[in-house]
Amino acid sequence: MIVDTHVHLDDPRYTKDLEEVLRRSVEAGVTQWIIPGADPGTLERAVEIAEAHEGCYFAVGVHPYDARNYDRKLLERYIGHEKCVAVGECGLDYYRLLESEEEIVEEKRIQKEVFVDQIALAKEYDKPLIVHIREASRDSQELLESYAGKRGGVLHCYNADHQLLQMAERGFYYGIGGVLTFKNARKLVEVYPRIPRERLLIETDAPYLTPHPFRGQRNEPAYCRIIAEKMAELSGLSFEELTGICRENTRRLFGI
Ligand code: NI
Repeated sequence: MIVDTHVHLDDPRYTKDLEEVLRRSVEAGVTQWIIPGADPGTLERAVEIAEAHEGCYFAVGVHPYDARNYDRKLLERYIGHEKCVAVGECGLDYYRLLESEEEIVEEKRIQKEVFVDQIALAKEYDKPLIVHIREASRDSQELLESYAGKRGGVLHCYNADHQLLQMAERGFYYGIGGVLTFKNARKLVEVYPRIPRERLLIETDAPYLTPHPFRGQRNEPAYCRIIAEKMAELSGLSFEELTGICRENTRRLFGI
């Protein structure tokens, strides 16, 4: 049994055929899902989906791209829900190019402020964090080291680097997704064997980051299987061993 620990089922791209997507997922052995909070506008939809499906859970959070729409009160409204398992996805993303130096400084300031507040929220309610990091490893690590509690969390690993490996010692897990199957994923393939096995989680980040050979199409949770196969191969484990380890890791971190 596989848990997709990061899948945006509240994305409008699933509105029409969500039940079909979940059916294919279950058929592929992917029977539980965690919907991370990203766009505050679809949080209520995520709660609705989690309430309607036994294997489905959600997190409350605001993606760094939506940092300007951050509203702690909205997150607090749902954080106590029995199906809320984490805070996130929150973090830093410096990939988006901005016009001027002042705008970059201001964008970073807002992202950091909103990230730190979500780290505090997780600590206050004793929830693990789902952390999004893109081209901001050093700053993210600094903030997590300064503010995160013992509960730890998971790092979205699509531009994993050696810097972030240090976070394993601080209770952090690594979400491995479709990028691992990309032909040009040299960096992640290189870092992957150095991630302790008891820190690995499987995630699709669907509808984004569709694994090979389906790149270019909409991603879906059933493809966790393709990711797990690649992980097993690179870990020198059988598919059953690898998915068993990840299942246990998911339980330890999220309590599901
Ligand atoms: Ni995501």
